[in-house]
Amino acid sequence: MRRVSTEFLIVSFLVVAAAAATVASGVNVTYDHRALVIDGKRRVLVSGSIHYPRSTPDMWPGLIQKSKEGGLDVIETYVFWNLHEPVKNQYEFEGRKDLVKFVKLVADAGLYVHLRIGPYVCAEWNYGGFPLWLHFIPGIVLRTDNEPYKAEMKRFTAKIVGMMKEENLYASQGGPIILSQIENEYGNIDKDYGPAAQTYIKWAASMATSLDTGVPWVMCQQKDAPDPIIDTCNGFYCDGYTPNSNNKPTMWTENWTGWFLSFGGAVPYRPVEDIAFSVARFYQRGGTFQNYYMYHGGTNFGRSTGGPFIATSYDYDAPLDEYGAPRQPKWGHLKELHKAIKLCEDAMVATDPTTTSLGNNLEASVYKTSSTCAAFLANVDTKNDATVTFNGNSYRLPAWSVSILPDCKNVAFNTAKINSMATIRRFVAKKNGNELIASEEISSDWSYVSEPIGISSNNAFKKPGLVEQINTTADQSDYLWYSISAESEGDESETVLHVKSLGHVLHLFVNGQLAGSAIGNANNPTVSKDIPITLKPGINKLDLLSLTVGLKNYGAFFDTTGAGITGPVELEGLKNGSTIDLSSMRWTYQVGLKGEGLGLHTGGSSLWVSGVPKSQPLTWYKTSFDAPSGDDPIAIDLSGMGKGELWVNGESIGRYWPAYIAPNSGCSDCSYKGSYNSNKCLKGCGKPSQKLYHVPRSWLKSSGNVMVLFEEISGDPTKISFTTQVLQSLCSHVSESHPSSIESWSQEKSRRKRKQEPKVSLECPHPNQVISSIKFASFGTPQGQCGNFRHGECKSDNALSILQNACLGFKTCSVGVSTVTFGDPCVNVVKSLAVEASCE
Ligand code: GAL
Repeated sequence: MRRVSTEFLIVSFLVVAAAAATVASGVNVTYDHRALVIDGKRRVLVSGSIHYPRSTPDMWPGLIQKSKEGGLDVIETYVFWNLHEPVKNQYEFEGRKDLVKFVKLVADAGLYVHLRIGPYVCAEWNYGGFPLWLHFIPGIVLRTDNEPYKAEMKRFTAKIVGMMKEENLYASQGGPIILSQIENEYGNIDKDYGPAAQTYIKWAASMATSLDTGVPWVMCQQKDAPDPIIDTCNGFYCDGYTPNSNNKPTMWTENWTGWFLSFGGAVPYRPVEDIAFSVARFYQRGGTFQNYYMYHGGTNFGRSTGGPFIATSYDYDAPLDEYGAPRQPKWGHLKELHKAIKLCEDAMVATDPTTTSLGNNLEASVYKTSSTCAAFLANVDTKNDATVTFNGNSYRLPAWSVSILPDCKNVAFNTAKINSMATIRRFVAKKNGNELIASEEISSDWSYVSEPIGISSNNAFKKPGLVEQINTTADQSDYLWYSISAESEGDESETVLHVKSLGHVLHLFVNGQLAGSAIGNANNPTVSKDIPITLKPGINKLDLLSLTVGLKNYGAFFDTTGAGITGPVELEGLKNGSTIDLSSMRWTYQVGLKGEGLGLHTGGSSLWVSGVPKSQPLTWYKTSFDAPSGDDPIAIDLSGMGKGELWVNGESIGRYWPAYIAPNSGCSDCSYKGSYNSNKCLKGCGKPSQKLYHVPRSWLKSSGNVMVLFEEISGDPTKISFTTQVLQSLCSHVSESHPSSIESWSQEKSRRKRKQEPKVSLECPHPNQVISSIKFASFGTPQGQCGNFRHGECKSDNALSILQNACLGFKTCSVGVSTVTFGDPCVNVVKSLAVEASCE
């Protein structure tokens, strides 16, 4: 009796203790009209997107660490349904798909997570994240009030929430997840779904809430998000945004740090002065949560990219580049911005801002209580700098900039004044530590397999008429063969094949020879082409290879957009000048390539023959290679190749297409001043949209790596080279009047007394490197940019030696930018110091 009761006591004690532990470590996350409230405190938060499958698990800790150093509080990621459930009810969560591991690594770094489950995610991800099998469920209509769809959406959302709960990953359980998203930008396209759109959104909201995560849910771009879901803003600017209830905080879930690249397009970039301006404006006007989309964009490995035509690189011009290195000065300038904003946090969470005009296009917003005061001064003029008076002091505000005054007096930061280091990184081909002048062949040992042209598989089938491609392939492959024979009477004849396709690319083979190709583009994937061909007397074999290049991921009913040769297909003048319509005739179809069926991408099979035929369409190539030494990131330079897919040790690096060249025009100089859009700032006109492809280090061994390429059009694999990313230069250009923009001389003097003189600071990013040379230094009126600085009319004689003394041999150095250090080479002129250095 007694024994039993002791046991009972022990058991109940354990139960109580366990419950207490959960409660003690769990954090309450709620919100009010000002901010997210975490553990009873309103917070001003800075967030950044990193999509776990766009890098490798060994890159994750570094990316998260650099995000933390860059001043982020939160890491945001989507969850990619088709990655985790490629076949219905068969889940995959290993390697790059290990969501739990990713969330735990963010927690280990002390950061929060915003988990955007979607499960529709857009994201330039294949089919917006939807598994293709959804499309084939009878009666299904995606993203609307449709029972079969809702059942699947609920099942997957509940599955993810369940996994997170099981691992105690919600903040309410002591984990890092403070926020979750359901759906994605449905408000942008809901009109097209009619009245069912509203009932769907209400259902999605209550379905999500019923999963009881203990943390708030958001819907982005959803003005009618039902309570308690917070509606949030996405865009290049969100300072005008107000949520749909006064009880909800103003949140920005996607501030696009650049834009995505398309095959056939030029490379978009967004100047950091403009990003910083947009962020400061948002916090100035009452926002308290902002997320950079992307903070690290990464790589669309395999066939994961959406589309059509979205490139394999998803670099996005993000603060961390595709390879994970800080993109400077973007990363550093935003870091300084975050510091300044955090200095304002107490004032910002205490009250709403009061905004007043300081003149035309000039605006002051003040967060003030009896104990705190922070101010943001904005000049939204796109051309003219201005001097404003605020609280009795005078401030210089460059055009299109915001100054942040955490004490309502001193300027901690101005968005247009870049004080952080810039870097130039390059990809160089190296051998034995030396840069190769002409790229050497990576291997002399090539073998190849010629992919049969036309039908080769037992799975081929015949059908009258032309079929739609996605319904036929179910996206098991990019490729679908359409084959037919045509009889030609008389002599050899020159004629034309008219072909129309919904896209995205097609290659026509006549009697086994490539006769022509038709290629769509990101804006218009359809193709309509007249291909001149030569027919021989008798039977002619016409084989059309149609390809998808990533399935559509955006727009109303995007999931029903078709692809492939839906016709008409017509042969001109076969007999007596008439045109023959082949469209409704009996065609033979084959889904995928023979080599895909054989698994040639791994390098296995006995079909490989030694040699490296060049300029031959439909060819599989294989070689083995040693990994480039060191630990710098690797990119393979595929100049010389046409279009296809690349594998290393069986892992798909992605689709490659260096033959698709960006237009010659559209890359004019771009000013950060004035509203940004995704076409405003482009580079790389007239060049391949993408010639470098990221090969993650963790996929390589030191030697004996197997590389396989499938080339569709024409390539010369011997021109391929391996490059590694190296730091070419560190630069800094700082003005002596930085950072304070207070104009009065007495304030300037007191700042100098407080030793707040501006500084040039340099730091070699690699832990084992030191500053090895000062390539340029000038104090006076230097001109130009990192990589091409030049002296101005005014310059001191001692800048180079002062910098050499202070920096050479050190990992970091810092030099005051003032006449105290350098003497005064030109009195009454505002001077600056420009430095370019290198590390070894
Ligand atoms: C947004 C969308 C994101 C991404 C972005 C463009 O509309 O929500 O998922 O596609 O556009 O990069």
